[in-house]
Amino acid sequence: MDAVSIITTKRDGGELSDAQIDWVVDGFTRGEVADEQMSALAMAVLLRGMSRRETARWTQAMIDSGTRLDFTDLPRPTVDKHSTGGVGDKITLPLAPLVAACGAAVPQLSGRGLGHTGGTLDKLESIPGWRADLDRTRIREILSDPAAGAVVCAAGADLAPADKRLYALRDVTGTVESIPLIASSIMSKKIAEGTAALVLDVKVGVGAFLKSRAQAHELATTMVELGADEGVRTVALLTAMDTPLGRTAGNALEVAESVEVLAGGGPADVVELTVALAQEMVALAGLDADPAAALADGRAMDHWRAMVRAQGGNPGAPLPRARHTETIRADRDGVLTRLDALSVGVAAWRLGAGRAKQGDPVQAAAGVEMHAKPGDTIVAGQPLLTLHTDTPAAIPGGLTALADACTVEPSSGELCPQPLILERIEP
Ligand code: URA
Repeated sequence: MDAVSIITTKRDGGELSDAQIDWVVDGFTRGEVADEQMSALAMAVLLRGMSRRETARWTQAMIDSGTRLDFTDLPRPTVDKHSTGGVGDKITLPLAPLVAACGAAVPQLSGRGLGHTGGTLDKLESIPGWRADLDRTRIREILSDPAAGAVVCAAGADLAPADKRLYALRDVTGTVESIPLIASSIMSKKIAEGTAALVLDVKVGVGAFLKSRAQAHELATTMVELGADEGVRTVALLTAMDTPLGRTAGNALEVAESVEVLAGGGPADVVELTVALAQEMVALAGLDADPAAALADGRAMDHWRAMVRAQGGNPGAPLPRARHTETIRADRDGVLTRLDALSVGVAAWRLGAGRAKQGDPVQAAAGVEMHAKPGDTIVAGQPLLTLHTDTPAAIPGGLTALADACTVEPSSGELCPQPLILERIEP
């Protein structure tokens, strides 16, 4: 076998054999297939696509490039959630302890945020003392602990290492936007982490990675099929990401909002999606429990506290607050008809909440607070958005990103709320 014939086969629209896929993914992981060859192959895949068989084999080869964890001996069923990423998407924070409170073990091995959508580990790291790096033994201990039962931690270097290298190449070669490559990238990591069941939150809209409903549907369907192929019970929800979720985007700001949800309050959209995803996860885990009740009676909050403590965090400690804030006010009366998720995500990122490249530091306190959501009545002069940052020099960039984020129009009757959950996809 040789890399050039594999690249030319795909370039000319051919199908790769199982042996070719295994060979090229393995060779790339061991450094024998060069980065430029893998980049060329990724571009050929982006332009020509992959069949269902090729995508399944590619996913399997990426799982086999590292270790597949096994939690089948745990006393509780395992189930996880993956979101394709959105602005203000803090759902994992209330969801993981909520599902643990319903009797499941939630092993969530995550990466860090890149670009305008925040990373769950970055959010949790704003809690004083909280650590993302855990060894295998500690992960098992926390999952087995009936008081905690959920772990959100950094994926080790041996979890689908082929994907780590390939994603870094795709990021700089214009080859991210390929459905088979995205689906195999996400599913190889989720299957390798050892969960028995998985709920996918596939975001659609201006603040999402995929803007079109048709593309999101295709990605979700591909991932649900890949899960089924590997024996992981998988369901996907397509959810709207035109408007940010909740009223905050930024690390500590989102932790504070998640704690409000766990305390029985919080924004309606965050509560709705948290409960809907929890119901899917509980059902896939085969448990007979009511997540709405576990949220309302404080059991989810108890699990949150135990889970934060188990990773070295102090759930009672004050969260960092930004040294500088700037508020944007409404210039007219009316109704807020649009709050653009991408603009808010870019602003939070420029204010310091996100990173431009792997390894950059993030500010715990930076981000954007939203004082109104679409459908709210607005009075001229009222606050619409507050920018938070520790670096005042970042404020102009944040203001520029938010210049056209809000549309306030004269009230013309009832504004029809957009549904948050657009579609459910199962095998
Ligand atoms: N997230 C991933 O993990 N992989 C992709 O390819 C895209 C988004």
